[in-house]
Amino acid sequence: MILRGRLLSFHRRPEDLSDMASYLYEEDGGLLIEGGRIAACGAFGDISAQAPKDVAIVDHRPHLILPGLIDTHLHFPQMQVIGSYAANLLEWLNTYTFVEEQRFVDPAHAARIAVAFFDEMIRQGTTTSVAYCSVHKASADAYFAEAERRNMLMLGGKVMMDRNAPDALTDTPQTSYDDTKAVIAAWQGKGRNHVVISPRFAITSTPEQMEMVAALAREFPDLHIQTHLSENLAEIEFACSLYPQAKDYTDIYAHYGLLRPNMLLGHAIHLSERERDAISETGAVAVHCPTSNLFLGSGLFPLKEFERRDRPMRIAVATDIGGGTSYSMLKTMDEAYKIQQLRGERLTPLESVFHMTRGNGEALGLADRIGTLEPGSDADIVVLDARATPAMALKMEAVTTLAEELFLLQTLGDDRAIAETYIAGRPAKSAL
Ligand code: GUN
Ligand code: ZN
Repeated sequence: MILRGRLLSFHRRPEDLSDMASYLYEEDGGLLIEGGRIAACGAFGDISAQAPKDVAIVDHRPHLILPGLIDTHLHFPQMQVIGSYAANLLEWLNTYTFVEEQRFVDPAHAARIAVAFFDEMIRQGTTTSVAYCSVHKASADAYFAEAERRNMLMLGGKVMMDRNAPDALTDTPQTSYDDTKAVIAAWQGKGRNHVVISPRFAITSTPEQMEMVAALAREFPDLHIQTHLSENLAEIEFACSLYPQAKDYTDIYAHYGLLRPNMLLGHAIHLSERERDAISETGAVAVHCPTSNLFLGSGLFPLKEFERRDRPMRIAVATDIGGGTSYSMLKTMDEAYKIQQLRGERLTPLESVFHMTRGNGEALGLADRIGTLEPGSDADIVVLDARATPAMALKMEAVTTLAEELFLLQTLGDDRAIAETYIAGRPAKSAL
């Protein structure tokens, strides 16, 4: 199959709006797809000349064809938590989230939400996501079974939490270790699944559980780890009070050997210079969740400052559903832009597209598989329609450059702008 349309794929992070060497843009492009992979990418004339004679051609002109969008932090059991009215993170967790997640003790509920979850990812053009499941092993089983059924490249993990939460939502150091190992045995490498070691955050893990997390991290150096860090000032104070020997919040995780390149630190807003150095030295990733940070009033993530420092931090972007308020990575970057505006910084539309595609692929260490249109990559692809609504079509009349079109997609776009989502070469959105 050949997809015909306007191809856009990044080689690296763009320096500024004039940095045309940072990306490939093919006005009349062709993507040759074979066996779920991208076999060739270039001018349509060249690609069709090298393709088999009977190749099917799907014409997406005038739409843009991009790598599938990647969401590096969200909570699968929080689909029904979105929009819960709370003053701040800890109130939101205790009043709504720790109540809702208890429902995932029921495998039938988890299975139902898994179907809704992957339908929504596909609707939004998100082809890979990194999810926290609930404390229940069955929730991870439901998540990975549905991902495998749809042949999606998904990351996720059973949450480990053994204190400061209702009894119905806690495990023990031993069961959290055993269940995580069982999830790894059952799902790691099955289909396109990647299991993530998932201690929720320092507040909900005893030192004994953190020792188990450390053991898992040593046993499985290639697996990702995910947790939350420095999202909210009261959270930071509480976490540090529980680990009085730690220099700061980051040091709690460092003490257990968890800072490494495949460690994803959700939020990471309020960091001292010492913490920023510790994170950048180890290559751990700070995951920016803009809609959530605004909704919960958590703070304004210093994205440009983190990238600019002598020792830059690796950055990923994410929705953080259900603290986040939109499943759309377009809307997520719209809010990321506004946060930088409030900080007196600029985030270009080229950077936004880089972050939700290749940037997130690199942050996950998976850019050879996802996040670009480079030959050999998995054919996870999104087709974007910048005229998806009457208001967008009207504004498009005034648009003259690619960057303006991308900025319009980010500012006014959402799931309606996702004309099609391909999973491993198969159209998935039109098949919903
Ligand atoms: N910190 C610990 N758990 C959570 C969660 O579920 N959502 C957010 N936003 N922060 C957290
Ligand atoms: Zn989160």
